[in-house]
Amino acid sequence: MLAIDQGTTNTKAMLVDAASGLVVAQASAPTSIGFPAPGWVEQDAECLWTASLAAIDACLAQQPDAEVLGIGVSNQRETVVCWSRSEGRPLGPALGWQDARTAAWCADLAQRQPTAARTVRDRTGLSLDPMFSAPKFRNLIDAAVAGGADPSDVAVGTVDSWLVWRLTGQHVTEPGNASRTLLLDLASLTWHDELLTLFGIDASHLPELRPSDATFGVTSTLHGRLAGGVPVLAVLADSHAALYHHGCTTPGTGKATYGTGTSVMSPTSDPEPGPHGIATTVAWHVGGRATYAREGNIVASGSALDWMAATLGVPEGTAGGAHLTALAAEVPDSGGVSFVPAFSGLGAPYWDRSAVGVLVGVSGGTTRGHLARAALDAVAHQVADVVEAMESDGSARIETLHADGGATASQLLMQVQADLLARPLEVASSPAASALGAARLAAEQLGVATPPAEPGRRVTPHCTDSPQSRAARLAWGQAIARSRGMTV
Ligand code: G3P
Repeated sequence: MLAIDQGTTNTKAMLVDAASGLVVAQASAPTSIGFPAPGWVEQDAECLWTASLAAIDACLAQQPDAEVLGIGVSNQRETVVCWSRSEGRPLGPALGWQDARTAAWCADLAQRQPTAARTVRDRTGLSLDPMFSAPKFRNLIDAAVAGGADPSDVAVGTVDSWLVWRLTGQHVTEPGNASRTLLLDLASLTWHDELLTLFGIDASHLPELRPSDATFGVTSTLHGRLAGGVPVLAVLADSHAALYHHGCTTPGTGKATYGTGTSVMSPTSDPEPGPHGIATTVAWHVGGRATYAREGNIVASGSALDWMAATLGVPEGTAGGAHLTALAAEVPDSGGVSFVPAFSGLGAPYWDRSAVGVLVGVSGGTTRGHLARAALDAVAHQVADVVEAMESDGSARIETLHADGGATASQLLMQVQADLLARPLEVASSPAASALGAARLAAEQLGVATPPAEPGRRVTPHCTDSPQSRAARLAWGQAIARSRGMTV
Protein backbone atom coordinates (compact mmCIF):
# COMPACT_ATOMS: atom_id res chain seq x y z
CA MET A 1 0.00 0.00 0.00
CA LEU A 2 1.27 3.44 -0.85
CA ALA A 3 0.21 6.16 1.57
CA ILE A 4 0.56 9.82 0.65
CA ASP A 5 0.23 12.39 3.42
CA GLN A 6 0.20 15.84 1.87
CA GLY A 7 0.83 18.37 4.70
CA THR A 8 1.45 22.08 5.00
CA THR A 9 5.24 21.90 5.09
CA ASN A 10 5.94 18.62 3.29
CA THR A 11 4.48 15.59 1.59
CA LYS A 12 5.29 12.21 3.08
CA ALA A 13 5.04 8.98 1.14
CA MET A 14 5.11 5.63 2.84
CA LEU A 15 5.11 2.09 1.49
CA VAL A 16 3.45 -0.42 3.77
CA ASP A 17 3.80 -4.14 3.20
CA ALA A 18 0.22 -5.34 2.71
CA ALA A 19 0.91 -8.72 4.32
CA SER A 20 2.78 -7.66 7.45
CA GLY A 21 1.58 -4.08 7.83
CA LEU A 22 5.18 -3.00 8.28
CA VAL A 23 6.52 0.23 6.82
CA VAL A 24 9.12 -0.80 4.25
CA ALA A 25 10.01 2.59 2.78
CA GLN A 26 9.29 6.22 3.43
CA ALA A 27 10.35 9.57 2.07
CA SER A 28 9.31 13.16 2.19
CA ALA A 29 9.62 16.23 0.02
CA PRO A 30 9.21 19.85 1.13
CA THR A 31 6.50 22.20 -0.07
CA SER A 32 6.76 25.96 -0.12
CA ILE A 33 4.55 28.46 1.63
CA GLY A 34 4.20 32.20 1.18
CA PHE A 35 2.89 34.98 3.40
CA PRO A 36 2.30 37.76 0.86
CA ALA A 37 0.39 40.03 3.26
CA PRO A 38 -0.52 39.97 6.96
CA GLY A 39 -2.95 37.08 7.52
CA TRP A 40 -2.49 35.73 3.98
CA VAL A 41 -1.06 32.22 3.57
CA GLU A 42 -0.54 30.85 0.07
CA GLN A 43 0.83 27.65 -1.38
CA ASP A 44 1.50 26.70 -4.98
CA ALA A 45 -0.91 23.93 -5.99
CA GLU A 46 1.54 22.74 -8.62
CA CYS A 47 4.19 22.45 -5.90
CA LEU A 48 1.82 20.41 -3.69
CA TRP A 49 1.54 18.00 -6.61
CA THR A 50 5.26 17.92 -7.52
CA ALA A 51 6.24 17.49 -3.85
CA SER A 52 3.85 14.54 -3.70
CA LEU A 53 5.37 13.02 -6.84
CA ALA A 54 8.90 13.58 -5.52
CA ALA A 55 8.06 11.88 -2.21
CA ILE A 56 6.36 8.97 -4.01
CA ASP A 57 9.32 8.55 -6.33
CA ALA A 58 11.90 8.64 -3.53
CA CYS A 59 9.84 6.14 -1.55
CA LEU A 60 9.36 3.69 -4.42
CA ALA A 61 13.05 3.96 -5.35
CA GLN A 62 13.82 2.27 -2.01
CA GLN A 63 11.75 -0.79 -3.02
CA PRO A 64 12.12 -0.97 -6.81
CA ASP A 65 10.51 -4.44 -7.01
CA ALA A 66 7.43 -3.56 -4.97
CA GLU A 67 4.07 -3.85 -6.68
CA VAL A 68 1.78 -1.07 -5.44
CA LEU A 69 -1.65 -2.63 -4.81
CA GLY A 70 -3.45 0.52 -3.82
CA ILE A 71 -3.10 4.08 -2.60
CA GLY A 72 -4.37 5.80 0.54
CA VAL A 73 -4.36 9.59 0.64
CA SER A 74 -4.36 11.84 3.67
CA ASN A 75 -4.02 15.57 3.43
CA GLN A 76 -3.90 18.96 5.08
CA ARG A 77 -7.48 20.14 5.42
CA GLU A 78 -9.36 23.33 4.57
CA THR A 79 -6.67 24.50 2.13
CA VAL A 80 -8.31 25.11 -1.24
CA VAL A 81 -7.24 24.76 -4.85
CA CYS A 82 -8.99 26.10 -7.95
CA TRP A 83 -8.12 24.71 -11.37
CA SER A 84 -9.12 24.60 -15.02
CA ARG A 85 -10.80 21.33 -15.92
CA SER A 86 -9.80 21.56 -19.56
CA GLU A 87 -6.20 22.64 -19.12
CA GLY A 88 -5.49 20.97 -15.79
CA ARG A 89 -3.60 23.97 -14.46
CA PRO A 90 -4.25 25.77 -11.19
CA LEU A 91 -6.18 29.02 -11.40
CA GLY A 92 -4.56 31.17 -8.76
CA PRO A 93 -2.67 30.19 -5.62
CA ALA A 94 -3.81 27.52 -3.19
CA LEU A 95 -5.20 29.41 -0.19
CA GLY A 96 -3.84 27.80 2.96
CA TRP A 97 -5.94 26.73 5.91
CA GLN A 98 -4.25 29.45 7.98
CA ASP A 99 -5.20 32.10 5.43
CA ALA A 100 -7.46 34.71 7.00
CA ARG A 101 -7.93 37.06 4.03
CA THR A 102 -11.66 36.37 4.02
CA ALA A 103 -12.07 37.39 7.68
CA ALA A 104 -13.72 40.71 6.77
CA TRP A 105 -15.97 38.95 4.24
CA CYS A 106 -17.09 36.47 6.95
CA ALA A 107 -17.65 39.28 9.47
CA ASP A 108 -19.68 41.18 6.89
CA LEU A 109 -21.78 38.09 6.12
CA ALA A 110 -22.46 37.60 9.83
CA GLN A 111 -23.55 41.23 10.09
CA ARG A 112 -25.72 41.26 6.97
CA GLN A 113 -27.36 37.97 7.86
CA PRO A 114 -27.57 37.68 11.64
CA THR A 115 -28.72 34.04 11.36
CA ALA A 116 -25.76 33.02 9.17
CA ALA A 117 -23.41 31.95 11.97
CA ARG A 118 -26.18 29.95 13.60
CA THR A 119 -27.15 28.26 10.34
CA VAL A 120 -23.54 27.38 9.65
CA ARG A 121 -23.02 25.96 13.13
CA ASP A 122 -26.25 23.96 13.14
CA ARG A 123 -25.74 22.47 9.68
CA THR A 124 -21.96 22.03 9.53
CA GLY A 125 -20.82 21.92 13.19
CA LEU A 126 -18.26 24.65 12.44
CA SER A 127 -17.85 28.33 13.25
CA LEU A 128 -18.15 30.93 10.52
CA ASP A 129 -14.38 31.40 10.35
CA PRO A 130 -12.06 32.15 7.41
CA MET A 131 -10.02 29.03 8.20
CA PHE A 132 -12.70 26.86 6.63
CA SER A 133 -12.91 26.44 2.88
CA ALA A 134 -16.13 28.01 1.58
CA PRO A 135 -15.12 31.70 1.71
CA LYS A 136 -11.80 30.75 0.11
CA PHE A 137 -13.54 28.74 -2.63
CA ARG A 138 -15.67 31.78 -3.32
CA ASN A 139 -12.63 34.05 -3.42
CA LEU A 140 -10.81 31.83 -5.93
CA ILE A 141 -13.85 31.20 -8.14
CA ASP A 142 -14.60 34.93 -8.31
CA ALA A 143 -10.97 35.73 -9.15
CA ALA A 144 -10.81 33.01 -11.83
CA VAL A 145 -14.02 34.15 -13.51
CA ALA A 146 -12.99 37.82 -13.25
CA GLY A 147 -9.72 36.79 -14.92
CA GLY A 148 -11.63 35.43 -17.92
CA ALA A 149 -12.12 31.74 -17.03
CA ASP A 150 -15.24 30.05 -18.37
CA PRO A 151 -17.29 29.31 -15.20
CA SER A 152 -18.10 25.79 -16.44
CA ASP A 153 -14.37 25.07 -16.66
CA VAL A 154 -13.63 26.12 -13.06
CA ALA A 155 -13.17 23.31 -10.52
CA VAL A 156 -12.43 23.75 -6.82
CA GLY A 157 -11.55 21.30 -4.12
CA THR A 158 -9.61 20.66 -0.97
CA VAL A 159 -6.12 19.18 -1.35
CA ASP A 160 -7.40 15.58 -1.48
CA SER A 161 -9.53 16.50 -4.49
CA TRP A 162 -6.63 18.18 -6.22
CA LEU A 163 -4.26 15.24 -5.73
CA VAL A 164 -6.83 12.59 -6.64
CA TRP A 165 -7.82 14.58 -9.71
CA ARG A 166 -4.18 14.71 -10.80
CA LEU A 167 -3.71 11.00 -10.02
CA THR A 168 -6.90 9.59 -11.51
CA GLY A 169 -8.70 12.37 -13.39
CA GLN A 170 -11.72 12.13 -11.05
CA HIS A 171 -13.07 15.22 -9.30
CA VAL A 172 -14.10 13.68 -5.97
CA THR A 173 -13.82 14.10 -2.20
CA GLU A 174 -15.00 12.35 0.96
CA PRO A 175 -17.08 13.53 3.93
CA GLY A 176 -14.21 14.09 6.39
CA ASN A 177 -12.54 16.66 4.15
CA ALA A 178 -15.90 17.97 2.96
CA SER A 179 -17.02 18.55 6.54
CA ARG A 180 -14.28 21.20 6.83
CA THR A 181 -15.65 23.34 4.01
CA LEU A 182 -18.76 24.91 5.65
CA LEU A 183 -20.80 23.43 2.79
CA LEU A 184 -21.50 19.89 4.01
CA ASP A 185 -24.67 19.14 5.93
CA LEU A 186 -23.55 16.88 8.79
CA ALA A 187 -26.83 14.99 8.92
CA SER A 188 -27.27 14.10 5.24
CA LEU A 189 -23.58 14.20 4.24
CA THR A 190 -24.43 16.21 1.13
CA TRP A 191 -23.53 19.66 -0.14
CA HIS A 192 -26.40 21.71 1.23
CA ASP A 193 -28.34 24.23 -0.89
CA GLU A 194 -28.84 26.69 1.97
CA LEU A 195 -25.09 26.76 2.59
CA LEU A 196 -24.22 27.00 -1.11
CA THR A 197 -26.55 29.99 -1.37
CA LEU A 198 -25.13 31.59 1.76
CA PHE A 199 -21.60 31.47 0.35
CA GLY A 200 -22.66 32.14 -3.24
CA ILE A 201 -21.11 28.96 -4.61
CA ASP A 202 -22.52 26.94 -7.49
CA ALA A 203 -22.39 23.20 -6.77
CA SER A 204 -21.10 22.54 -10.30
CA HIS A 205 -17.64 23.74 -9.21
CA LEU A 206 -17.45 21.23 -6.35
CA PRO A 207 -16.19 17.64 -6.29
CA GLU A 208 -18.49 14.64 -6.12
CA LEU A 209 -18.86 13.18 -2.63
CA ARG A 210 -17.88 9.56 -2.04
CA PRO A 211 -17.39 7.57 1.19
CA SER A 212 -13.85 7.60 2.62
CA ASP A 213 -13.42 3.96 1.62
CA ALA A 214 -14.82 4.30 -1.91
CA THR A 215 -12.77 3.73 -5.02
CA PHE A 216 -11.55 7.11 -6.17
CA GLY A 217 -10.42 5.89 -9.59
CA VAL A 218 -7.13 4.41 -10.78
CA THR A 219 -3.93 6.20 -11.67
CA SER A 220 -4.55 7.38 -15.20
CA THR A 221 -0.98 7.16 -16.39
CA LEU A 222 2.56 6.50 -15.27
CA HIS A 223 3.52 9.08 -12.62
CA GLY A 224 7.30 8.70 -12.28
CA ARG A 225 7.84 5.28 -10.68
CA LEU A 226 4.13 4.91 -9.86
CA ALA A 227 2.46 2.71 -12.46
CA GLY A 228 -0.83 3.45 -14.21
CA GLY A 229 -3.94 1.49 -13.20
CA VAL A 230 -3.31 1.58 -9.42
CA PRO A 231 -6.55 2.19 -7.48
CA VAL A 232 -6.92 4.98 -4.92
CA LEU A 233 -8.72 3.03 -2.21
CA ALA A 234 -9.00 5.44 0.67
CA VAL A 235 -9.02 9.17 1.36
CA LEU A 236 -8.93 10.64 4.86
CA ALA A 237 -8.23 14.16 6.08
CA ASP A 238 -4.90 14.13 7.95
CA SER A 239 -6.13 14.68 11.48
CA HIS A 240 -8.90 12.14 10.92
CA ALA A 241 -6.41 9.62 9.52
CA ALA A 242 -4.33 9.96 12.69
CA LEU A 243 -7.45 9.33 14.80
CA TYR A 244 -8.11 6.22 12.67
CA HIS A 245 -4.53 5.04 13.12
CA HIS A 246 -4.76 5.38 16.91
CA GLY A 247 -7.92 3.28 16.90
CA CYS A 248 -9.86 6.10 18.60
CA THR A 249 -13.41 5.21 17.58
CA THR A 250 -15.42 5.79 20.75
CA PRO A 251 -16.18 8.75 23.04
CA GLY A 252 -13.63 9.01 25.83
CA THR A 253 -10.75 8.35 23.43
CA GLY A 254 -8.91 11.12 21.67
CA LYS A 255 -5.72 12.43 20.18
CA ALA A 256 -3.73 15.56 19.50
CA THR A 257 -1.80 15.86 16.24
CA TYR A 258 1.03 18.35 16.68
CA GLY A 259 1.64 19.71 13.17
CA THR A 260 1.93 23.27 11.90
CA GLY A 261 -1.18 23.75 14.01
CA THR A 262 -2.57 21.21 16.43
CA SER A 263 -5.80 19.31 16.02
CA VAL A 264 -7.37 17.81 19.13
CA MET A 265 -10.05 15.31 18.20
CA SER A 266 -12.32 12.85 19.99
CA PRO A 267 -15.15 10.72 18.55
CA THR A 268 -18.68 11.60 19.58
CA SER A 269 -21.89 9.64 19.27
CA ASP A 270 -23.78 12.90 18.93
CA PRO A 271 -23.43 14.87 15.68
CA GLU A 272 -25.14 17.91 17.25
CA PRO A 273 -23.06 21.08 17.77
CA GLY A 274 -20.65 20.71 20.70
CA PRO A 275 -19.63 23.15 23.44
CA HIS A 276 -18.79 26.74 22.47
CA GLY A 277 -15.65 26.94 20.33
CA ILE A 278 -15.53 23.20 19.62
CA ALA A 279 -16.42 21.91 16.17
CA THR A 280 -18.38 18.82 15.31
CA THR A 281 -17.04 17.15 12.22
CA VAL A 282 -17.16 13.94 10.21
CA ALA A 283 -14.20 11.77 11.13
CA TRP A 284 -14.78 9.31 8.26
CA HIS A 285 -17.46 7.47 6.36
CA VAL A 286 -16.39 3.85 6.33
CA GLY A 287 -18.32 0.62 5.91
CA GLY A 288 -21.47 2.57 5.09
CA ARG A 289 -21.45 4.42 8.42
CA ALA A 290 -20.32 7.92 9.38
CA THR A 291 -18.26 8.42 12.53
CA TYR A 292 -18.43 11.94 13.97
CA ALA A 293 -15.90 13.69 16.16
CA ARG A 294 -15.52 16.81 18.25
CA GLU A 295 -12.52 18.87 17.37
CA GLY A 296 -10.57 21.93 18.36
CA ASN A 297 -8.15 23.38 15.83
CA ILE A 298 -5.23 25.38 17.08
CA VAL A 299 -3.91 27.58 14.32
CA ALA A 300 -0.27 28.03 15.40
CA SER A 301 1.71 25.46 17.36
CA GLY A 302 4.53 23.90 15.27
CA SER A 303 4.69 27.20 13.39
CA ALA A 304 5.04 29.00 16.75
CA LEU A 305 7.94 26.72 17.70
CA ASP A 306 9.56 27.29 14.31
CA TRP A 307 9.14 31.04 14.65
CA MET A 308 10.66 31.11 18.14
CA ALA A 309 13.53 28.82 17.11
CA ALA A 310 14.31 31.01 14.09
CA THR A 311 14.03 34.17 16.18
CA LEU A 312 16.37 32.86 18.87
CA GLY A 313 18.74 31.47 16.23
CA VAL A 314 19.32 27.82 15.49
CA PRO A 315 22.89 26.52 15.12
CA GLU A 316 23.70 25.09 11.68
CA GLY A 317 22.61 21.46 11.36
CA THR A 318 20.30 21.48 14.40
CA ALA A 319 16.54 20.99 14.12
CA GLY A 320 14.57 23.97 15.45
CA GLY A 321 12.40 21.91 17.81
CA ALA A 322 15.37 20.06 19.30
CA HIS A 323 17.23 23.32 19.81
CA LEU A 324 14.25 24.93 21.50
CA THR A 325 13.84 21.94 23.83
CA ALA A 326 17.53 22.03 24.74
CA LEU A 327 17.33 25.76 25.50
CA ALA A 328 14.13 25.34 27.53
CA ALA A 329 15.72 22.54 29.56
CA GLU A 330 18.24 25.10 30.92
CA VAL A 331 15.51 26.73 33.04
CA PRO A 332 12.92 25.28 35.45
CA ASP A 333 10.04 27.28 33.94
CA SER A 334 9.36 30.25 31.68
CA GLY A 335 10.33 32.75 34.38
CA GLY A 336 6.92 34.44 34.19
CA VAL A 337 6.97 34.85 30.41
CA SER A 338 3.85 33.90 28.43
CA PHE A 339 3.81 33.75 24.64
CA VAL A 340 0.51 33.71 22.74
CA PRO A 341 1.28 32.90 19.08
CA ALA A 342 -1.88 34.43 17.62
CA PHE A 343 -0.12 35.00 14.29
CA SER A 344 -3.40 35.19 12.40
CA GLY A 345 -5.76 35.40 15.35
CA LEU A 346 -6.78 32.50 17.57
CA GLY A 347 -8.57 29.31 16.56
CA ALA A 348 -10.27 26.92 18.96
CA PRO A 349 -11.71 27.44 21.44
CA TYR A 350 -11.66 31.27 21.01
CA TRP A 351 -12.15 31.75 17.27
CA ASP A 352 -11.05 35.35 17.57
CA ARG A 353 -9.36 36.59 14.42
CA SER A 354 -8.76 40.00 15.99
CA ALA A 355 -6.44 38.49 18.63
CA VAL A 356 -2.79 39.43 18.18
CA GLY A 357 0.44 37.65 19.07
CA VAL A 358 1.82 38.75 22.44
CA LEU A 359 4.85 38.08 24.59
CA VAL A 360 4.22 39.20 28.16
CA GLY A 361 6.10 39.09 31.45
CA VAL A 362 9.49 39.82 29.88
CA SER A 363 11.99 41.29 32.34
CA GLY A 364 15.67 42.16 32.40
CA GLY A 365 16.29 38.65 33.69
CA THR A 366 14.52 36.90 30.83
CA THR A 367 16.83 34.50 29.01
CA ARG A 368 16.62 32.66 25.72
CA GLY A 369 15.80 29.57 27.79
CA HIS A 370 12.73 31.30 29.25
CA LEU A 371 11.54 32.32 25.78
CA ALA A 372 12.05 28.80 24.44
CA ARG A 373 10.13 27.37 27.38
CA ALA A 374 7.33 29.91 26.87
CA ALA A 375 6.98 28.70 23.26
CA LEU A 376 6.71 25.05 24.34
CA ASP A 377 4.27 26.05 27.08
CA ALA A 378 2.14 27.93 24.52
CA VAL A 379 1.62 24.73 22.53
CA ALA A 380 0.65 22.77 25.64
CA HIS A 381 -1.64 25.50 27.02
CA GLN A 382 -3.52 25.78 23.73
CA VAL A 383 -4.15 22.02 23.74
CA ALA A 384 -5.25 22.20 27.39
CA ASP A 385 -7.67 25.03 26.50
CA VAL A 386 -9.25 22.84 23.83
CA VAL A 387 -9.49 19.70 25.98
CA GLU A 388 -11.08 21.71 28.81
CA ALA A 389 -13.58 23.25 26.38
CA MET A 390 -14.37 19.82 24.89
CA GLU A 391 -15.16 18.38 28.28
CA SER A 392 -17.02 21.45 29.53
CA ASP A 393 -20.43 20.08 28.54
CA GLY A 394 -19.97 16.84 30.47
CA SER A 395 -18.77 14.87 27.41
CA ALA A 396 -16.82 11.72 28.23
CA ARG A 397 -13.42 12.59 29.71
CA ILE A 398 -10.50 11.67 27.48
CA GLU A 399 -8.67 9.47 29.97
CA THR A 400 -5.49 9.10 27.92
CA LEU A 401 -4.64 11.51 25.16
CA HIS A 402 -2.84 9.98 22.16
CA ALA A 403 -0.23 12.30 20.72
CA ASP A 404 1.40 12.29 17.30
CA GLY A 405 3.15 14.66 14.93
CA GLY A 406 6.58 16.20 14.73
CA ALA A 407 6.60 18.14 18.02
CA THR A 408 5.99 14.96 20.05
CA ALA A 409 9.74 14.37 19.71
CA SER A 410 10.13 16.94 22.50
CA GLN A 411 9.98 14.94 25.71
CA LEU A 412 9.80 18.22 27.62
CA LEU A 413 6.74 19.38 25.68
CA MET A 414 5.01 16.04 26.25
CA GLN A 415 5.73 16.21 29.99
CA VAL A 416 4.43 19.79 30.24
CA GLN A 417 1.35 18.66 28.33
CA ALA A 418 0.67 15.71 30.65
CA ASP A 419 1.17 17.96 33.69
CA LEU A 420 -1.18 20.70 32.43
CA LEU A 421 -3.84 18.16 31.46
CA ALA A 422 -3.30 16.11 34.63
CA ARG A 423 -3.62 12.90 32.65
CA PRO A 424 -1.33 10.51 30.81
CA LEU A 425 -0.33 10.83 27.19
CA GLU A 426 0.39 7.98 24.84
CA VAL A 427 2.95 9.30 22.38
CA ALA A 428 2.90 7.48 19.01
CA SER A 429 6.06 5.59 18.16
CA SER A 430 5.87 6.98 14.62
CA PRO A 431 5.13 10.68 14.15
CA ALA A 432 3.56 9.78 10.77
CA ALA A 433 0.21 8.68 12.18
CA SER A 434 -1.78 10.28 9.36
CA ALA A 435 0.02 8.33 6.63
CA LEU A 436 -0.35 5.13 8.65
CA GLY A 437 -4.08 5.74 9.08
CA ALA A 438 -4.52 6.23 5.32
CA ALA A 439 -2.47 3.11 4.59
CA ARG A 440 -4.53 1.11 7.05
CA LEU A 441 -7.87 2.12 5.55
CA ALA A 442 -6.56 1.42 2.04
CA ALA A 443 -5.29 -2.03 3.11
CA GLU A 444 -8.63 -2.83 4.68
CA GLN A 445 -10.27 -2.28 1.29
CA LEU A 446 -8.19 -5.17 0.00
CA GLY A 447 -9.16 -7.33 2.97
CA VAL A 448 -5.75 -6.94 4.58
CA ALA A 449 -5.89 -6.27 8.32
CA THR A 450 -2.89 -4.22 9.35
CA PRO A 451 -1.67 -4.71 12.93
CA PRO A 452 -2.98 -2.23 15.53
CA ALA A 453 -0.87 0.83 16.19
CA GLU A 454 2.23 -0.07 18.18
CA PRO A 455 1.91 1.02 21.82
CA GLY A 456 3.56 4.37 22.19
CA ARG A 457 5.64 6.01 24.89
CA ARG A 458 3.55 6.68 27.98
CA VAL A 459 4.05 10.03 29.68
CA THR A 460 2.44 10.33 33.09
CA PRO A 461 1.75 13.64 34.85
CA HIS A 462 4.01 14.50 37.77
CA CYS A 463 0.93 15.17 39.83
CA THR A 464 -2.75 15.65 39.10
CA ASP A 465 -3.39 19.03 40.71
CA SER A 466 -0.29 21.09 41.38
CA PRO A 467 -0.25 24.76 42.46
CA GLN A 468 2.36 25.36 39.71
CA SER A 469 0.00 24.08 37.02
CA ARG A 470 -2.86 26.16 38.38
CA ALA A 471 -0.68 29.29 38.49
CA ALA A 472 0.58 28.60 34.97
CA ARG A 473 -2.98 28.21 33.67
CA LEU A 474 -3.98 31.47 35.33
CA ALA A 475 -1.06 33.37 33.82
CA TRP A 476 -1.84 31.86 30.42
CA GLY A 477 -5.49 32.95 30.71
CA GLN A 478 -4.32 36.50 31.40
CA ALA A 479 -1.99 36.43 28.40
CA ILE A 480 -4.87 35.22 26.21
CA ALA A 481 -6.99 38.12 27.50
CA ARG A 482 -4.23 40.57 26.56
CA SER A 483 -3.92 38.97 23.13
CA ARG A 484 -7.64 39.59 22.66
CA GLY A 485 -7.41 43.17 23.83
CA MET A 486 -9.35 42.52 27.02
CA THR A 487 -8.70 44.09 30.38
CA VAL A 488 -6.77 41.77 32.68
O1 G3P B 1 -6.50 21.68 9.55
C1 G3P B 1 -5.20 21.87 9.09
C2 G3P B 1 -4.39 20.61 9.22
O2 G3P B 1 -5.03 19.57 8.55
C3 G3P B 1 -2.98 20.84 8.74
O3 G3P B 1 -2.21 19.75 9.05
O4 G3P B 1 -0.13 18.48 9.31
O5 G3P B 1 -0.24 20.26 7.62
O6 G3P B 1 -0.18 20.85 10.01
P1 G3P B 1 -0.58 19.86 8.99
